[in-house]
Amino acid sequence: MAEIMLQVSNMWVHYGQVPAVRNLSLEVHRNEIVCVVGPNGAGKSTMLLAVAGALTPTKGEVRLNGVSVVGKAPEYIAKLGISLIPEGRHIFKGLTVEENLKVGAAANADRSSVENNLRTAYSVFPVLAERRHGAAGMLSGGEQQQLAIARALMSGARLIMIDEPSLGLAPKITEKVFEVLSELRRSSGLTLLIIEQNLKRALKYSDRIYILRNSEIVFSGRSAELQASDDLHSAYFGLGQAPSNVGAGQ
Ligand SMILES: Nc1ncnc2c1ncn2[C@@H]1O[C@H](COP(=O)(O)OP(=O)(O)OP(=O)(O)O)[C@@H](O)[C@H]1O
Ligand SMILES: [Mg+2]
Repeated sequence: MAEIMLQVSNMWVHYGQVPAVRNLSLEVHRNEIVCVVGPNGAGKSTMLLAVAGALTPTKGEVRLNGVSVVGKAPEYIAKLGISLIPEGRHIFKGLTVEENLKVGAAANADRSSVENNLRTAYSVFPVLAERRHGAAGMLSGGEQQQLAIARALMSGARLIMIDEPSLGLAPKITEKVFEVLSELRRSSGLTLLIIEQNLKRALKYSDRIYILRNSEIVFSGRSAELQASDDLHSAYFGLGQAPSNVGAGQ
């Protein structure tokens, strides 16, 4: 097993007095695809925002390649090689595709590395190359999702966290996006932490999954071993007791 890239330990995140994430521990190894699934309001987005530094955990530890990042600014965390694609993607619709990609380049990137990253992005996403001078707002939903992923790549991030890439996309387009993510993991050694509402899809594309319910991780395991697990299904659908074998799924 490759080394741990992201380690979240006993993290709590509150909105005011209300905990949205409780005692959450999770890890992502280098070059893994890890999916977090769970119902609406479970705390999935909150967890990612806290890891990225957009929210500050009230308790617990977050380590990126062994370096503690709790309480650090999002810009600092981004420079350590982590990029968050938030729910809804947040591309700049009035800018061209290429301008969006250049905005994604790290502030300290030199011109030649920006050009290099652009070439890579265009080779992975040919549709973006075709539409490079068109307004990003004219892209379809699936194309906009590709743009958001390409923009994260432009920053040189080694760990990309994506909040519900399938949101608003037709199933076929979503499959395509996940295929591209799998390919990027193979070809670029990328590490991915993805929130995905669809359990079947999460199992298909990830190495490991975590199920988050009511602000807590209630299940985790290796995806290949879980396809037919009853425990998994009861955890996902919230039937009965959460199973007690909540290991890290190694
Ligand atoms: N800014 C906020 N202020 C107060 N409460 C919030 C805020 N954002 C989220 N919450 C609450 O925190 C809980 C977790 O929300 P979160 O957005 O993390 O869930 P989620 O799992 O991402 O849900 P979804 O699948 O709908 O995106 C919910 O109860 C939500 O109402
Ligand atoms: Mg969410």
